[in-house]
Amino acid sequence: MRKKVTKAIFPVAGLGTRFLPATKSVPKEIMTLVDRPLIQYAIDEARAAGIKEFIFVTSRGKGALEDYFDHAPTLEQELRKKGKDQLLEVLKDTNMDSGAIAYIRQHKALGLGHAVWCARRLIGNEPFAVILPDDVIAAETPCLQQMVEAYSETGGNMVAAMEVPPEKASSYGVLDVQKENGQIVEVAGMVEKPPAGEAPSNLAVIGRYILSPNVLRSLNKMKTGAGGEIQLTDAIAQAIGGDEGVYGYRFRGQRFDCGSKSGFLQATVSFGLAREELRSDLLDYIRDVVQMDQAAE
Ligand code: G1P
Repeated sequence: MRKKVTKAIFPVAGLGTRFLPATKSVPKEIMTLVDRPLIQYAIDEARAAGIKEFIFVTSRGKGALEDYFDHAPTLEQELRKKGKDQLLEVLKDTNMDSGAIAYIRQHKALGLGHAVWCARRLIGNEPFAVILPDDVIAAETPCLQQMVEAYSETGGNMVAAMEVPPEKASSYGVLDVQKENGQIVEVAGMVEKPPAGEAPSNLAVIGRYILSPNVLRSLNKMKTGAGGEIQLTDAIAQAIGGDEGVYGYRFRGQRFDCGSKSGFLQATVSFGLAREELRSDLLDYIRDVVQMDQAAE
């Protein structure tokens, strides 16, 4: 029997400099798509995939993120008094069971691989998931849930994968494909941010992973890689050709790069349109803007 994946690491130590000045006082993960912070989307996806323990790798200045998951007794009391049951339900989603959530500090910004390694003692000897909250994925079946289902067949290590325009490949971890098997891709190599024109394919790693604890052992010995950082991609690549194997999973869904302003805005529009109560107003507005833009040309 394969061990169930019940723990997930959320690397949230980044400074979010692309969103300055907002991120001067608001952690990037608390920035909202419509009315829910980025981190809430990641947590919901993890829960849907059966995750029970949530490990946040944080850094200085992330206090608002920790507070977000606390109960808010005064607010709840006030809402109860006013009979606002629906809002109380909305708040419920943000509460975590005591002991289900842990915060670990990454004391130095040494890269994604290092951030994941910081959580090694909480993971122990189990397979675990990693979710990068910047990558928001809209999907009928949440992406990590799709992967957990595929992983129950493959075991080993699995990364979410998506085709990107070839000229964008150098912004990602990129897979060298050995064999395609429907949505599952057997991986022959993996390279983090390959120089332009040197990517082995245009199949990019997206921020969802299911990993064997052996990856943490590889990270123990890790040297710096692309960009002078300790790369998770390099540690996963060590498992290629070994007993466990590495698989890419072509997920079904639409991914938004909420680490970029443009991606964040696109996600805002898309999630706004997906909300019944907002859709018609927002569509009217978008049509007006497009018309004005065309008239001005
Ligand atoms: C990280 C990973 C990279 C992956 C990307 C997906 O890079 O290192 O392999 O393709 O996330 O969003 P980052 O975007 O943090 O530079």
